[in-house]
Amino acid sequence: MAEDKKRIKLNMGKFLKIIPERLKRIKNSSDDDMKPLYSYKPNALAAAIHPKEQFVIVGNIEKLCSDTLLFTLLPDKEKGTSSLSPFQAGQYISVSVSSGKRTYSRPYSICSSPSEFADKYQIAVKRTDGGVVTGILHEEIKQNDKLTVSDPCGSFTYEPLRDAKTVIGCAGGVGITPFISMIRAVKDGMEDFSLTLLYGCKKPQDALFRDLLDKINDPRIKIVYVFEEGAEDNCEKGIINAELIKKYAPADKYSLFVCGPHNMYTHIEKEAEKLGIRRKYLREDARGQMIHPEKEPDFYPAENGDYAVTVISSSAKTELRCKSGETLLSAMERAGVTAPSRCRSGECGFCHSRLVSGVCYTPARADGRRAADKVYGYVHPCCAFPRSDIVIEIKA
Ligand code: FES
Repeated sequence: MAEDKKRIKLNMGKFLKIIPERLKRIKNSSDDDMKPLYSYKPNALAAAIHPKEQFVIVGNIEKLCSDTLLFTLLPDKEKGTSSLSPFQAGQYISVSVSSGKRTYSRPYSICSSPSEFADKYQIAVKRTDGGVVTGILHEEIKQNDKLTVSDPCGSFTYEPLRDAKTVIGCAGGVGITPFISMIRAVKDGMEDFSLTLLYGCKKPQDALFRDLLDKINDPRIKIVYVFEEGAEDNCEKGIINAELIKKYAPADKYSLFVCGPHNMYTHIEKEAEKLGIRRKYLREDARGQMIHPEKEPDFYPAENGDYAVTVISSSAKTELRCKSGETLLSAMERAGVTAPSRCRSGECGFCHSRLVSGVCYTPARADGRRAADKVYGYVHPCCAFPRSDIVIEIKA
């Protein structure tokens, strides 16, 4: 044992010399030795998978139901996107649109198959009351228009090391979209798991992708419609709850994947608790979910505050106003500041910004910051609500 200890003892003198030695080598090296960063294979591969932005042309636009359109997006080769980036079923892209001098972006799940990644992405966009981006996409965007989208992001994906072999999916309304991609991925051999999908809608006419879902003939996939109003053969009536999940779940372990409107998450979390589902098997796609601060358990009132916000970026300093119920990101977009964003739900960290001064409230359930970020005063403006006047520094 003593011998072992002696053998693994660190030579501290040598260890401490590493940094000065490296600095000396860097200083003495010639620029001629430098290869361009992207000539290194891992960097080139990373850049291809995660481009800063992708340029697309709008292909077919199909009406899925009275308030939802399906957009097919094709690579815009003229602008330099020769093929689209690969993605995993369940991921999303952030779509940017302009209105006047303002640029807005919103995340949408990709619903096409990952096997077709190079040639097309498809997204379904439901029109929402007062939704700026959904309004522009529904009313102004037409075939052959050009758009900019992000690389595919998000972790609402099947992971065999973490997830059970059987997935029970709980989808609400347009929250069906990531599951459509998963179904296609299973059928195309890109994913290997069984999926029983409980698809909740108000009434039968609201269910999207019926053409695809009703024709599935694959023992690994089962679709169960759950309608609040109206009925059909073999459908369930009411809402998705613990009883229904239990009815269709296997006796052994399973993962529970959830995607739907905001209140569906809190509801299914409670139902999952009744079933004793371990937290690691509960997976939620909170992408783009509007966070309602007043509905959060840790919410504290702000007396309808209306605060002054100073936004510092490398190119400008902007003064704007933000109400206590509005996120800093929304206020910046409204004021014409192009701020970085992807998920808009606190998860990805892409909007990560330094809070120079002031106080913000971040709901605990949307607080995806690292411990160090909290200590050193960083916030995610997509889910930070002001509680005082604010000075914030954003990435340009
Ligand atoms: S946009 Fe993802 S954390 Fe803010």
